[in-house]
Amino acid sequence: MRNLPDTAKINKHNHLEIGGVDSVDLAKEFGTPLYVMDEATIRNRCRQYIDSFRKYYPNTDIAYACKALCTAGILKVVDSEGMCFDVSSGGEVYTALKSGCDPKKFYFHGNNKTIAELKMALEVGVGRIMVDTTQEIINLDEITKELGQGVEVMLRINPGIEAHTHKYIKTGLIDSKFGVPQNEIDEAVKMIQKHKYIKLVGFHAHIGSQIFDTKSFVDEVKLLLELTMKYQTHEINIGGGPGVAYLDSDNPPGIDAYAEQVAKVLKGKTEAKLVLEPGRSIVANAGVTLYSVGAIKDIPKIRKYILVDGGLADNPRPILYQAIYDAKLANKASAVPVEKVTIAGRSCESGDILIKDIKLPKTEINDILAVLCTGAYNYSMASNYNRVGRPAMVLVRCGQASLIVEREDYEDLIRKDIIL
Ligand SMILES: Cc1ncc(COP(=O)(O)O)c(C=O)c1O
Repeated sequence: MRNLPDTAKINKHNHLEIGGVDSVDLAKEFGTPLYVMDEATIRNRCRQYIDSFRKYYPNTDIAYACKALCTAGILKVVDSEGMCFDVSSGGEVYTALKSGCDPKKFYFHGNNKTIAELKMALEVGVGRIMVDTTQEIINLDEITKELGQGVEVMLRINPGIEAHTHKYIKTGLIDSKFGVPQNEIDEAVKMIQKHKYIKLVGFHAHIGSQIFDTKSFVDEVKLLLELTMKYQTHEINIGGGPGVAYLDSDNPPGIDAYAEQVAKVLKGKTEAKLVLEPGRSIVANAGVTLYSVGAIKDIPKIRKYILVDGGLADNPRPILYQAIYDAKLANKASAVPVEKVTIAGRSCESGDILIKDIKLPKTEINDILAVLCTGAYNYSMASNYNRVGRPAMVLVRCGQASLIVEREDYEDLIRKDIIL
């Protein structure tokens, strides 16, 4: 199935196995909800990106977009594959540094980076600041003068390109808070060129996320190529966005096809370095979240609810983006689906529905439900709503499971509270 980790299989106990580890054993050992990340899938995706793009356009670097999933353990795996990093806050910079990643390989994003974040970025020596507003050029002017230190920047532009995806994750439309509008590019370039400490090395755009249509990327690359020629710069960063299979019926074009299309626009026309920032497509399919079924509520002729011990606090995407997920019963992995049910979360919100109307095998209390393709934008967007601790995360590989994020306990929840 396209929406499972690469190593997923059904073992002799009829359980879902990931990375050679029985997921029912994982639920017993580490508790639920539990984020399970398959190391092999993450490594495979990093390699597919690097190999495919360098095959068609050798001068390419791939920067993992940390916002998709940013924990020290995950970044270490990604780093060991020779990737660069798209970081978009002081916290992501800090996590990547603590993971031992080289700051020269960081592309620092944000449409309103604070002065403190910009200073931190310069002090630790991040490779590129991705300038998002003309105000940021003014801020960088002051900071570079104060520190007596130069900085290389890329200008993020608003490409005004329609990408076929959810409206909240389209970022390159004309009416967008991201990037310098096209009518301001010339002014922004001139502003940068006036400063002796700030050097413009290239242009960046990001058109959105969970995109299947490679034509939108082709249009974006053409625009960035035009700017590269016009302003004689030498780096083109096309952001992230390639879509993944949340459902087995989803059929994204694949990394190789995407690489071929993008390279075709650039080949023979420029020697500029190409940089990509995939996030979702590196980690989404590597992740599965395990939940325990705690109660079942059958409302005759209306709906049968399966109530699990997690929900919008560990996966806000269904309520934010109407995202549709698929699931399996991890302890009955080859059982035939027989009933239509709705998977509801535990929070005090009627909208906390993880999956509406999914067909599952006969489901009982204490079954382990595995929600698929939860590696991206789940843990990184998780909250403590209802004062529920965020789940633990384990990394599985070659029959071994390592805890890479501890489960939050009650003490973690009140750590920053001040009792007067
Ligand atoms: C600038 C930038 N680069 C990369 C990404 C990663 O996108 P994706 O996870 O869809 O690949 C994002 C996502 O919002 C982004 O804003």
